[in-house]
Amino acid sequence: MINKVLRSLVFMMEKLSVGSPLESIRAHEFVNHTWQSGAGSGTLRIMKKRLEGKRALVTAAAQGIGEATARAFAEAGATVVATDINGEKLSELARVPGIQTRVLDVMSRSAIEAMIAEEAAFDVLFNCAGTVHNGSILDCTDEDWDLAFDLNVKSMFRVSQAVIPGMIAAGGGSIVNVSSIAAHKGLVNRFAYGASKAAVTGLTKMIAADFVKQGIRCNAVAPGTVQSPSLDDRISAFEDPVEARKQFIARQPMGRLGKAEEIAAAALYLASDDAVFVSGTTLCVDGGMSI
Ligand SMILES: NC(=O)c1ccc[n+]([C@@H]2O[C@H](COP(=O)([O-])OP(=O)(O)OC[C@H]3O[C@@H](n4cnc5c(N)ncnc54)[C@H](O)[C@@H]3O)[C@@H](O)[C@H]2O)c1
Repeated sequence: MINKVLRSLVFMMEKLSVGSPLESIRAHEFVNHTWQSGAGSGTLRIMKKRLEGKRALVTAAAQGIGEATARAFAEAGATVVATDINGEKLSELARVPGIQTRVLDVMSRSAIEAMIAEEAAFDVLFNCAGTVHNGSILDCTDEDWDLAFDLNVKSMFRVSQAVIPGMIAAGGGSIVNVSSIAAHKGLVNRFAYGASKAAVTGLTKMIAADFVKQGIRCNAVAPGTVQSPSLDDRISAFEDPVEARKQFIARQPMGRLGKAEEIAAAALYLASDDAVFVSGTTLCVDGGMSI
């Protein structure tokens, strides 16, 4: 009897997961459930959510990779605080079960500290905020350079510094930073951007080294070119946007742009206990750009 009930439960859960917009993300893992009754005993594979009981903070969650990752974390069972500077866009996420939203400018230390003071500790931090500067060193102004480093790297310093004490007190946590393939490979017209994302690699390794004994893991995910609203803006800025899109696709050996959900899947892996033996590394999710 118990066997029958469990089997239909598993069947229903598997059915429910099919057709979800995030079905490509393995938000669940299967665990063995051993049962025993008067009728005998056996083992069933049942679904377990990979971030069940965890609290996750996501920056830049209003669109693109941040949004997909906030949704993936919530689907994996986390309570997610999804933040962005754009409150209007963020409001759509507030309707998703498991997600609370908060306006947060990651370039403001006082705003970060005020939020952390009001929130319970986080087990997971996804540092996603970033901006792409187009151009070579000859096009780059001091302001471009400063903004690239402020938004792409210093924001991670500020938010991680505010979150880590809570992780230490709780006995551990997982930080996932968004880097870029531009940190690993020379790309045309990505001077300030590539330099700032290379700094993310260093920041990630140093945090990983300093807190490995306190159970805190820190890793990065380095996307190739991913379809997102800001990519559309970058492409529209070209004289010939159709040709520009073709060029972006052509530099990806897999012959297509990445999907935000594919980056979210990697972030979910690094955030979860699946990656419990992984720290200080960068996972390239780039359609083969780094081959
Ligand atoms: N899309 C790509 O091709 C690609 C490739 C490699 C790396 N990345 C990185 O992924 C991250 C997300 O990029 P995307 O293209 O998915 O998203 P996006 O650029 O379309 O959206 C960025 C989000 O950041 C928010 N934001 C901007 N300034 C902020 C601030 N001061 N505080 C808080 N939020 C702020 C915006 O409101 C927006 O919602 C960035 O770090 C980017 O560098 C993107």
